[in-house]
Amino acid sequence: MSDDLFLPRAEPTIAERPAPAWAKKSLPKSKAAVRTKTKVSARKYFAPNDPHEHAHKIAEGVIDAWHQNFGGTSIDIPIGTVAALALLRNPPGLADWILNLQPHQLPQLFKEIYLGYWVKRPDLINRAMRLHDWAWNPDPDTQQLRAVHAVAHRAINTGLLDLTGHNDPYMRSESDVLSPLLTGLRHKSDKKWRGEYHTPPCVTDLLAEMLVDKDFAGQGKAIREPAVGSGAMLRSVAQRLRDLGLNPHDYHWYGNDVDSLSAACAAVNAIIWDLGPGTLIGCADSLATEDGGYAKTRAEAQDAFKWRDDAMGTATTIAAHRRAFRLVDQLMPDKEKASA
Ligand SMILES: C[S@@+](CC[C@H](N)C(=O)[O-])C[C@H]1O[C@@H](n2cnc3c(N)ncnc32)[C@H](O)[C@@H]1O
Repeated sequence: MSDDLFLPRAEPTIAERPAPAWAKKSLPKSKAAVRTKTKVSARKYFAPNDPHEHAHKIAEGVIDAWHQNFGGTSIDIPIGTVAALALLRNPPGLADWILNLQPHQLPQLFKEIYLGYWVKRPDLINRAMRLHDWAWNPDPDTQQLRAVHAVAHRAINTGLLDLTGHNDPYMRSESDVLSPLLTGLRHKSDKKWRGEYHTPPCVTDLLAEMLVDKDFAGQGKAIREPAVGSGAMLRSVAQRLRDLGLNPHDYHWYGNDVDSLSAACAAVNAIIWDLGPGTLIGCADSLATEDGGYAKTRAEAQDAFKWRDDAMGTATTIAAHRRAFRLVDQLMPDKEKASA
């Protein structure tokens, strides 16, 4: 893997903190040099056989790492970190490469992951805005970055990429890593007020099995979840369709939640679980409108695609102009260039 892939294009704004004088003194020069060059490798971990248990274990580790490192109260940040990593496929060497990034390099990595998906699904990445807008902060908090670094290490060292990095969407959809993270990070009273208790996967799997059979699953059918949370029910239905030899891409999916952080998690999960092009994730009060916010969500998605197309069109035009200028430059004799 190329070493400069994802690395910041501009100089990082945070200077490396020099090691304290006593630390330098206590190490002989040669040892100090070896220490700075040591590469971190992913740790071996005990993975529970059950993917849901595994997801819980990852979430518990991440929550510990965030709090142990005084990450603060913005729970969007640890969730956004895990969500970004969960969007990656897992080629050999990726885990070690990420583990060797410095804290100040991580926001750039996350921005590029989210941008890569924005090109494909601007509607879902916009919906997940809360999970990544912090990464664009030009002057990030150093302590927060350390906590983000600890979260990324803990997630990778407890096997996140093994759970979510599969090429096969069926394997990636065996669990919902964001659900225990979201409910675990929420304050108790906040959770109670929101009624945010996600349905256990064994229950959603059973419901999907009872409700979805080949007759139910006529092509073009819509699956609607008006209180989607992080998408537990959508995941179970998608897996059930796959078990029946059907393709989730042939269906319409509409998940809505009044809470923007839940909707953000559902949007990222819709990508991880590959629900397909007919997926809409909204953020509205399902009880406040007759259509449960569907028309608003569809209009927002159309705007997101239009904005993406305009931005890509402008970028293509700029690139074409640059190429044309370079060509003219190469064709012009030096004398003419000087007088031009
Ligand atoms: C008990 S959780 C269930 C989540 C998911 N359906 C599951 O089974 O795991 C309830 C969710 O409903 C959402 N919710 C509550 N009232 C809502 C409303 N009026 N409109 C949309 N979502 C709502 C909450 O934000 C919360 O995420």
